[in-house]
Amino acid sequence: APLVRVAVDGPSATGKSDSAQQLAQRLGFLYVDSGALFRALALALSSKLLPASNPSAIAAYLTGPENPVPRIQWTFPPGRIMLNGHDVSLAIRTDEITQKASEYAVLPAVREALIGLQRHIGVDDPNVRGVVMDGRDIGTTVFPDADAKLFLDGDVHVRAARRVRQRRQQMAAAGDEKLFDAAALDVVRVAEALAARDYRDRTRPQGALACAPDAVVIDSASVTLTEQVDMMEKAVRSRL
Ligand code: C5P
Repeated sequence: APLVRVAVDGPSATGKSDSAQQLAQRLGFLYVDSGALFRALALALSSKLLPASNPSAIAAYLTGPENPVPRIQWTFPPGRIMLNGHDVSLAIRTDEITQKASEYAVLPAVREALIGLQRHIGVDDPNVRGVVMDGRDIGTTVFPDADAKLFLDGDVHVRAARRVRQRRQQMAAAGDEKLFDAAALDVVRVAEALAARDYRDRTRPQGALACAPDAVVIDSASVTLTEQVDMMEKAVRSRL
């Protein structure tokens, strides 16, 4: 039987990864963080000194013999991303790679290089019945025929405040007051950075962030994480 596909899209910091992962667990499906694939590719491109300002060099590299995409691997559980056999799950989370992933993601060559990988994950595994994938264009471009589509939205200031609270908790847990710099803890500046990334995601020519007409929209700013997962699960189960 073909895999059941659940698409979870929305702007940054709407709790997509956490809620999609919990949803996948409740459904017994594979969870895929498509942003991690874009981040791993950003790491590979920046280590080759190929800037997003040089799209033709990137297109040539991604269609040539050294294309790094076959060496990007998503493993779940426990949600690790591998590049060239190395676990880069932490290396892809820096502010630098966050910024670069967003810039590279605008390029059609980058999106085309990853679409086959996104569609193939889980397909050859007889234990996988379904996939929950989170991203920006999953319900519109990657799986336009998805069995269920969810779109998580939310006020940018509420999203920024949550992101800052998360970072403060991470600092407390690590006992490291310098884990994040002042800008990363300033709600106004974090909101500006989120808005800039969202704008780039919404206005690119291919794979733009958009709500599919048949998606269920959830306002992440007005609910707790558990309430969000409950709403998502209900929406998905009513469609299966
Ligand atoms: O979701 P996350 O913030 O980890 O994604 C990193 C970047 O990758 C985003 O800023 C976005 O530009 C890009 N991305 C994308 N399409 C996806 C997932 C992520 O363009 N499906």
